[in-house]
Amino acid sequence: MSIKKAIVLASVLVVGLFFLAACAGPAGQVGPAGPAGPVGPAGPAGPAGTNATNPTAADLTCTQCHNGTDLFFSKQEEWASSQHGMGELFIGEGYQAGCAGCHSGGGFTDMLAAGLTPDKVTTGDPHPSRQDCRACHEIHTTYTSADYALRTSAPVAQFATASTFDGGAGNLCANCHQARRALPAAAADGTIKVDSTHWGPHHGPQSTFLLGVGGSSDVKGSPSPHYSNVTDTCVACHMGGKGENADHTFTPTVANCTKCHADATTFDMNGAVTALQAKIETLKTALTGAGLLDKTGAPVVGSYPAAKAGALWNYLLVAVEDKSNGVHNMPYAEALIDASIAALK
Ligand code: HEC
Ligand code: HEC
Ligand code: HEC
Ligand code: HEC
Ligand code: HEC
Ligand code: HEC
Repeated sequence: MSIKKAIVLASVLVVGLFFLAACAGPAGQVGPAGPAGPVGPAGPAGPAGTNATNPTAADLTCTQCHNGTDLFFSKQEEWASSQHGMGELFIGEGYQAGCAGCHSGGGFTDMLAAGLTPDKVTTGDPHPSRQDCRACHEIHTTYTSADYALRTSAPVAQFATASTFDGGAGNLCANCHQARRALPAAAADGTIKVDSTHWGPHHGPQSTFLLGVGGSSDVKGSPSPHYSNVTDTCVACHMGGKGENADHTFTPTVANCTKCHADATTFDMNGAVTALQAKIETLKTALTGAGLLDKTGAPVVGSYPAAKAGALWNYLLVAVEDKSNGVHNMPYAEALIDASIAALK
């Protein structure tokens, strides 16, 4: 081949390449990922485990109580028929700080845990509950039958009256069933102001009454024979005593009196209840006549000579709030009513 031919051929090749290059488009998209590779080899064996054991009876402590026996269910049913189980005060009063310590079961246990008395509770219970099993027993603390232990049986320093109630298992009850107010002292002019139709010692002053305090100060009271002689006080008369047979209706029965009043067939030992009732009627008539009680039996707001206001207070304590017709402390009930009748003469 001549040099000329070679140059022509090379030129044609260069021009052809130029055209080829001018025709090529942009680079295509990246293709999809390829398939996963094969599974790797198994790892080495782990260390040996420990042998499992079946639970034994000792682990099932729940069944010390949740065992289908009548003991549990009978207490539930008795309690459900009692005022603790049926009353509805916990709903309204339990939310309020001044009431929660007694009117909510949970408020009560919180109060005990904090070492407070009902008057020192500063917060209401946002979830009020009844005076239920948990209020009185340590339920679900250790999750064994030891949780039937009472929440407290320590003596109760009464917050409204300078006295201490120490009546065995009845101390539990005395935390709530105590007077909330004492009779106010007379003003300089010798009068006492009855400032509301709810004036008085508040409901449930039973433990205070057993101690022989809580009435007007001109009457010197003494602890009831039922405080000094009855082991476990409230629990003996209202529950028939401690242990499995403790009656959870909390209703006193004559059978609970016959240990001491052998021939009793009613609560009216020696006619003392009937005799007190007659005196209470006399006092009520006198208080109504003097304008201290209205026709519905409620206190009339006003300022009265201390002796008359004291008579009204004593009437409310014995006849309205204590609710035992004198049985809790008959000598004190008689003394208060007698002195009050005399004060209105
Ligand atoms: C001291 C006895 C006692 C033991 C032990 C006990 N409980 Fe209870 N339990 C109760 C009482 C009392 C109630 C409340 C019953 C009522 O309100 O009427 C209750 C209620 C319950 C309730 C109903 C929901 C509630 O809290 O009110 C459950 C669920 C329960 N217990 C489970 C258990 C379990 C689980 C155990 C063991 C880990 C156990 N209990 C151990 C006495 C016990
Ligand atoms: C946590 C506070 C509290 C404790 C503890 C307590 N109670 Fe009560 N109890 C109350 C309240 C509040 C009522 C009223 C409930 C209602 O009507 O809603 C009541 C009602 C009663 C009643 C019914 C009164 C009526 O007018 O029908 C009796 C009886 C009674 N309690 C006895 C007892 C005895 C006995 C104990 C001790 C074993 C006890 N209580 C422990 C707060 C308590
Ligand atoms: C120291 C405990 C205690 C405190 C605090 C307390 N209560 Fe009570 N209250 C009781 C007991 C116990 C009874 C039930 C008495 C009974 O039936 O003999 C009761 C009963 C009542 C009753 C029902 C009265 C009746 O005749 O049916 C009302 C209403 C009431 N309380 C309102 C209140 C209010 C409102 C507060 C708070 C401002 C309050 N209580 C604070 C212990 C307390
Ligand atoms: C000597 C036995 C005895 C003792 C101790 C005793 N009570 Fe009573 N209690 C009675 C009798 C009896 C009644 C009147 C029941 C009736 O007439 O239905 C009564 C009435 C009551 C009532 C009113 C019940 C109602 O249905 O209206 C309450 C609340 C109460 N007692 C609480 C207590 C508390 C709390 C204690 C201890 C601080 C206590 N009692 C100690 C025998 C006793
Ligand atoms: C107002 C307080 C109160 C309430 C509420 C209450 N109990 Fe009791 N319970 C007592 C007292 C007081 C005893 C006698 C104390 C003792 O035996 O140490 C007792 C005794 C018992 C006993 C016998 C314990 C034993 O050691 O033999 C059982 C079981 C029992 N209660 C279950 C219950 C159950 C379940 C509930 C709820 C449905 C309940 N209690 C609610 C106060 C209460
Ligand atoms: C542990 C012993 C004991 C028990 C239990 C007991 N009492 Fe008494 N009671 C006495 C003593 C002591 C007296 C004072 C002396 C007397 O009058 O016999 C008394 C006095 C009384 C009085 C006054 C009698 C009068 O003449 O003034 C009445 C009412 C009374 N008791 C009712 C009851 C009732 C109701 C029960 C049961 C719910 C009961 N008692 C349970 C020991 C007891």
